[in-house]
Amino acid sequence: MKINFVKNTLPTDGALVVGILDNRILTPTAQLINKQTSGMINRVMMNSRFEGKRDQFLLLSYPTGLEVQHLLLIGLGKAESFDVLASHTFGGNIVAQLLNVGDKVVTIAVDDVEGVPICEEELAANIAFGAKLRSYRFDKYRTKEKIEEKPSIEKLVICLTNHVIAKRLYTTLDCIAEGVFLTRNLVSEPANIIYPESLANQAKALTELGVVVEVFGKNSMKKFGMGALLGVGHGSERESQLVVMQWIGNRDQTKSPVAFIGKGVTFDSGGISIKPANGMEEMKSDMAGSAVIIGLMKTLALRKAKTSAIGVIGLVENMLSGTAQRPGDVITTMSGQTVEVINTDAEGRLVLADVLWYTQNRFNPQIMIDLATLTGAIVISLGDHYAGLFANDNDLATKLLIAGKHVNELLWQMPLDEFYDDKIKSDIADMKNTGDREGSSITAAMFLKRFVKNTKWAHLDIAGVTWSKSDKAITPKGATAFGVRLLDCLISENYENK
Ligand code: BES
Ligand code: MN
Ligand code: ZN
Repeated sequence: MKINFVKNTLPTDGALVVGILDNRILTPTAQLINKQTSGMINRVMMNSRFEGKRDQFLLLSYPTGLEVQHLLLIGLGKAESFDVLASHTFGGNIVAQLLNVGDKVVTIAVDDVEGVPICEEELAANIAFGAKLRSYRFDKYRTKEKIEEKPSIEKLVICLTNHVIAKRLYTTLDCIAEGVFLTRNLVSEPANIIYPESLANQAKALTELGVVVEVFGKNSMKKFGMGALLGVGHGSERESQLVVMQWIGNRDQTKSPVAFIGKGVTFDSGGISIKPANGMEEMKSDMAGSAVIIGLMKTLALRKAKTSAIGVIGLVENMLSGTAQRPGDVITTMSGQTVEVINTDAEGRLVLADVLWYTQNRFNPQIMIDLATLTGAIVISLGDHYAGLFANDNDLATKLLIAGKHVNELLWQMPLDEFYDDKIKSDIADMKNTGDREGSSITAAMFLKRFVKNTKWAHLDIAGVTWSKSDKAITPKGATAFGVRLLDCLISENYENK
């Protein structure tokens, strides 16, 4: 979907969208169009339940006095609560309502409205952002879809007085949307297409944008002593990979970088502790943590963020075979600590253990955040609205919670008290990789904590929020890319020279 910002003009084709405030109050644009249609908007509202409440819609065909095919009235709710997030939702809803109506061009007129906390340029840019995010579709494998079954919208036109300023504001947002789209694509791809080496190649492609990318294979990782990560990949025909991405956008090299780490299990069969067949296909998305880091690095590079950020992802395929690791095996991690592998399906923490250690040794980052589809238990605890947040530093946790609210990628903080650590004591090694079912998202985080030195660290368990089973305002059903907008916001609010 193309997005254009133009100077105020009434469209001559397609669909026109008009926002109406709560209590059927007309914005200046709505007043203009009401006049143009000899009072039709007022008449139509009086004879319907449409009151301009948030998310109410009314679609009218061939409105007299206008040259468009459709006029869509959308409720804006109360002016004072129409903020940045509301404009995202508004943009997303427009696309959802008009996607399959048949119009190729959709026009929205935006103006300054009394009481609305943001100006018309911000409104315009953020409506466009929400619309773009909602327009995402992964349809490359649908070869038999007819044209009339595909979404009809090709272009979104946003009219306002200061279209040049709106366009400039949107440029940054579009960099974020592009990162989100990359992540969604990678997570949507099946595991026969995205496996450790092909995912590493996708990261490597960021070189074009100025990201420095290194890829390490099995032999290098053996030298690093990454027995935990390599143990997980041992049963697979696909070679495990470690990818280090660096975006150096900060001239001040005295400051240590911020580091982001991703779990990249390109398929999680469970290994010898095999998962049930039902729903196993969903485990193609067990690399979402690493896909978010790749998308984030793309966004940072596109918008030339004034920060130095490191992305490190551990890519493995967890399979069963004669060479797969067994329950009961003891492996030695890069840190030197040993682990008794009780359950080969608790593999994410093994991968992260080595990646966390490597990242601290090599970069000594000022903060370190890992993202992982780590536990089924977090899905049971928080469902698909909040990701679990675990942190050893309150200041970092607060920054993350705030950023989450600002972009509506919500986090809920979970405990990390030492008494949970008892559950992963082993009789034969330094620790075991699972406790029991109770509080198992927390024991997983406690396991990771054993591989964190003095670094300020946070762990986001994104197992519940990575894949959406239904359409949401700015996220169509499927891969959400939860985390890209959150981390981009965290950086721009806290770790960027402005
Ligand atoms: N990748 C899974 C976690 C997961 C579950 C992600 C559901 C997305 C949706 C992880 O590797 C796993 O298998 N965790 C096990 C750990 C258990 C064996 C201790 C779990 O949570 O059941
Ligand atoms: Mn698993
Ligand atoms: Zn997993």
